[in-house]
Amino acid sequence: MNKEVLDGLFRPKSVAVIGASATPGKIGYSVVESLNNGKYEGAIYPINLKADEILGHKAYPSILDLEGKVDLAVITVPAKLVLSAVEECGKAGVKGVSIITSGFGEVGDHETENAIVETAHRHGMRVLGPNIIGSLSNSGKLNASFAPMLPLPGDASLISQSGALLIALDAGTYLRGVGFDKLFSLGNMSDVDFADIIEWLDTDEHTKCTALYIEGLKDGRRFLEVSKKTNKPIIALKSGVSAHGAAAAASHTGSLAGAAKVYGAAFEQAGIIQATDLNNLFDLTQAFELQPPMKGDHLLIVTNGGGVGVLATDAAERFGIPLEFCPPELQAEMKNYMPEFGSAKNPVDITGGAGLEGYRKCIAFGLQQDWVHGLAVLYCETAVTNPDEIAQGILEAIREAKATPAGKDKPVVISFIGGTRCAKAMRYLIDNGIPAYDDPARAVNAIAGLRQFARLQEAKANAKDEKPFAADRNAALEIIKAARADGRDALTEIEAKQVFGIYGLDVTSTLLAKTEDEAVALANKVGYPIVMKIVSPDILHKSDAGGVKVNIKDDASTREWFAKIMANAKAYKADANIHGVAIQEMAPLGTEVILGSINDASFGPTVMFGLGGIFVEVLKDVTFAVTPVSKEQGLKMQSEIRGAKILAGARGEKPRDQEAMAETIARYSNMILDLQDEIKESDANPVMVYEAGNGLKVVDARIILKNK
Ligand code: COA
Repeated sequence: MNKEVLDGLFRPKSVAVIGASATPGKIGYSVVESLNNGKYEGAIYPINLKADEILGHKAYPSILDLEGKVDLAVITVPAKLVLSAVEECGKAGVKGVSIITSGFGEVGDHETENAIVETAHRHGMRVLGPNIIGSLSNSGKLNASFAPMLPLPGDASLISQSGALLIALDAGTYLRGVGFDKLFSLGNMSDVDFADIIEWLDTDEHTKCTALYIEGLKDGRRFLEVSKKTNKPIIALKSGVSAHGAAAAASHTGSLAGAAKVYGAAFEQAGIIQATDLNNLFDLTQAFELQPPMKGDHLLIVTNGGGVGVLATDAAERFGIPLEFCPPELQAEMKNYMPEFGSAKNPVDITGGAGLEGYRKCIAFGLQQDWVHGLAVLYCETAVTNPDEIAQGILEAIREAKATPAGKDKPVVISFIGGTRCAKAMRYLIDNGIPAYDDPARAVNAIAGLRQFARLQEAKANAKDEKPFAADRNAALEIIKAARADGRDALTEIEAKQVFGIYGLDVTSTLLAKTEDEAVALANKVGYPIVMKIVSPDILHKSDAGGVKVNIKDDASTREWFAKIMANAKAYKADANIHGVAIQEMAPLGTEVILGSINDASFGPTVMFGLGGIFVEVLKDVTFAVTPVSKEQGLKMQSEIRGAKILAGARGEKPRDQEAMAETIARYSNMILDLQDEIKESDANPVMVYEAGNGLKVVDARIILKNK
């Protein structure tokens, strides 16, 4: 990242609008008007062929008249004029161009879009857009867009791929009470993308956390790298995760949308909190900009209503912070702050009859207890209490408790359930730095996000450096080269197992027999019982072709089945290219799992893990991780699937060898990453995993090559 250039784009000292217009209703008019309304303090230069002055600013016929004077040029001329405008900006020494104009990559004109970026880079400029609304900054008093107003001020920033959505959310910030310092529209992301801005915001003193609206990433790996590096929370809403939604996103911005599970996994690996919808994106952003992360699992809930307490309890479990009862000494103390029929267990129910004093005391006491890591205060509107007074009292109690060393770094969220008086009281709380939501589940979801962030930060800090695995890459490439020379885009099972073996995976030994005699000799070498399988690049479904026989125990059967399998294969496909019959060690039965790999359009080589057989076929019980996957992550993947208990040892069964499995996942990740230019997809299916200490065996292996 060239910080100085991005500073020019996002923190400009002067702005030119190329295509500025004196005609109200035109975008070129709106941008100048927005700059005026935002009270931009730098120089504003409208560029227009005919006008002398626009909205109080002297207009110039060409940017070339302003050589060396302009940091940011906002371009609002029709598409066919943009490339030459960018060239002129370069000549005039502009630092960055923000191209509002539509009609490029999103309608198929990638050529002009590429030429624009090339031209800009040739002159040392960066490009925001095209097909955007522009960018906005409260601290910079900069509304370089055609959005009518700067957002409600706050400490978050928002980057949106969709421009229309950004305008809508901009206006919505006032309604929701969630403030932002900066808003960025990315549009076609021809040059500046999420990663560039996240990196730039890392040093922005006005941004505490960043919200993202993502349709698709072009360079997912860089996005992950940059997101991993920043310590500022990132909350991301990814659209286009359904099969139908993915198609809609692709036609919308011309970008590719990846699968839901891969994005989910990648976000987690990068320490990003994933939002489920727009409300959730705002809820989480509000929590992150106003409160610290939650550094432990104990959430204390204080409520005046049992029902909302139960709803919050359910939500806590759903969002990954299941409630625990308070320790007895905490319960004993809090019992003093409520009527006899209240409950101090957790949720702490001070009951509808309890007034402000009950809240005050429970908050003051609770927030200062070491046992408590975060607090949710719930309030149901009642006839005997006044929401305004409750809000004020709660705020005071929180402030006092937070001023103490024990209460200092603990997050608090609030939910008031009621009518307009509650809405007003919550707005007062929000304006005073306490996130407040009209549904207890939303409040708990928000604080669960603060907990998840702290967990991800801890995991990041504690991640062990693992020694890289060594492998003879050239030997693997030789096998692949030979298959390609043979005109094939898939390796045979024997070749795939050789490659797996090179990368240290424990494969069943499998040897190729071309004659009956060879079959017998190899069977004795491998050791009975054996499995025999046809080896032919033209026969993918070996069983359907009568090409597999298991549990062969002696020489005579080996001879008999060699002949049968060869004959079956010829009968199945007369012109099949048959290499021979594989003589394979018969692995004892274990727990069947599957390892697979894809080359994700956004994130590149990605590992899939799940339980094999019916679990993968019917239940699709699999999990993903973007490479490189460490052994530690390999252990985590095993705990993520729904059938995790089967591996951990369910119903009296001994646990499976999860250590060996984790190492296999890490080695497999190493293989697909190392050979990413060659391998399109691969799998190890099944892998038999044995009891802890007894390892595993890769029974079947498949490698599909990339087209070259
Ligand atoms: N230098 C400076 N100004 C120039 C120029 C040049 N080389 N060539 C033309 N202009 C002026 C025009 O004269 C006009 O000003 P005027 O009103 O004084 O005549 C102004 O630039 C705009 O050009 P015009 O032809 O009127 O275009 P327009 O305003 O109808 O449309 C866009 C231009 C960019 C708004 C339009 O092409 C577009 O892309 N719209 C979609 C934008 C959008 O929605 N983006 C966000 C998606 S989320």
